[in-house]
Amino acid sequence: MALSPGEHVLVTGGAGYVGSVCATVLVEQGYRVTVIDDLSTGNREAVPDGAHFLEGDVLDAAPGVLADDCAAVFHFAAKSLVGESVVSPAKYWSGNVVTSLRLLDLMRAAGVDNLVFSSTAACYGEPATVPITEDLPTAPTNPYGASKLAIDHIITSYAAAYGLGATSLRYFNVAGAYGTVGENRAVETHLIPLILQVALGAREKIMIFGDDWPTADGTCVRDYIHIRDLADAHILAASSNTPGSHRIFNLGSGDGFSVQQVVETCRKVTGHPIPAEVAPRRGGDPATLIASSARAMAELGWSPTRSDLTTIVGDAWAFTSQLGGRAHFARG
Ligand code: UFG
Repeated sequence: MALSPGEHVLVTGGAGYVGSVCATVLVEQGYRVTVIDDLSTGNREAVPDGAHFLEGDVLDAAPGVLADDCAAVFHFAAKSLVGESVVSPAKYWSGNVVTSLRLLDLMRAAGVDNLVFSSTAACYGEPATVPITEDLPTAPTNPYGASKLAIDHIITSYAAAYGLGATSLRYFNVAGAYGTVGENRAVETHLIPLILQVALGAREKIMIFGDDWPTADGTCVRDYIHIRDLADAHILAASSNTPGSHRIFNLGSGDGFSVQQVVETCRKVTGHPIPAEVAPRRGGDPATLIASSARAMAELGWSPTRSDLTTIVGDAWAFTSQLGGRAHFARG
């Protein structure tokens, strides 16, 4: 069932940040790509020209796509804001778990048995040790992480019972840009794009959420991975899925950077002073999250080449600084 160029791939959520970069790389590599996205958070212009685009609900549009000689599904469509999941959990259980379960049933009915699922480091919650391996206990601390973990459990059982071949990729902090696709959201909560909005003059300053964490400089440490490296892992996964097996891989660079170090890197890359101010801790943040990606490297043959922080920020800045009127966030 391994996937090869030329085959038809369904990308759900392919107008979102991660989905659109994966769709772009799939098109570049010669796959026939159909994107389904309801544009609730995605951007139409992020869908690559070479992909067929269906605007609407995944479950409405998927049956026709799956019946069209579809070889694999890359499932990104999801709600993905931790804070929102705490306030509106119904959106997450329904939008993530129910939709994914129904999509899996549609795949089963159509005989499509190759799945790559967009999972998250939030499945692990506050880890007892770092780096985080796939064998550590899963203990999500919010409904977002819990909903993604529930889907992983469903996939495991579908692989065992129904012969699905699947890979879940648990991303750490995805950042950077690829060509004309990057982080361009109306509502932005992520550190690097927010800092770059300050450099652009669209925001006055960056708030650092706490400087009293048990880390070297007191600010939270995260593992940043380049969006283009992430896309490679998805295609490697689909190309090596085997029926009856559900693999789970963490994806990060293996290096941790503090919020303060990220701000400093952005100052160097952009040449902008980027004012910063310490604010209270944000609820639900763990102090340190660093991935072990050893399993993905060994078993998928994945080797990230762009995930050093300067390259990530450089690519993100090249994207953000040329957005002009195409920015979806409010500009200064
Ligand atoms: N931060 C600030 N100021 C900001 C925004 C963020 O100091 O204005 C800090 C956060 O407190 C955190 C770090 O920057 O310490 C990174 O925050 P992000 O919001 O960029 O990312 P998270 O680590 O919170 O979240 C990421 C993914 C989630 C995923 C989670 C796994 O975006 O989807 O990792 O824990 F669930």
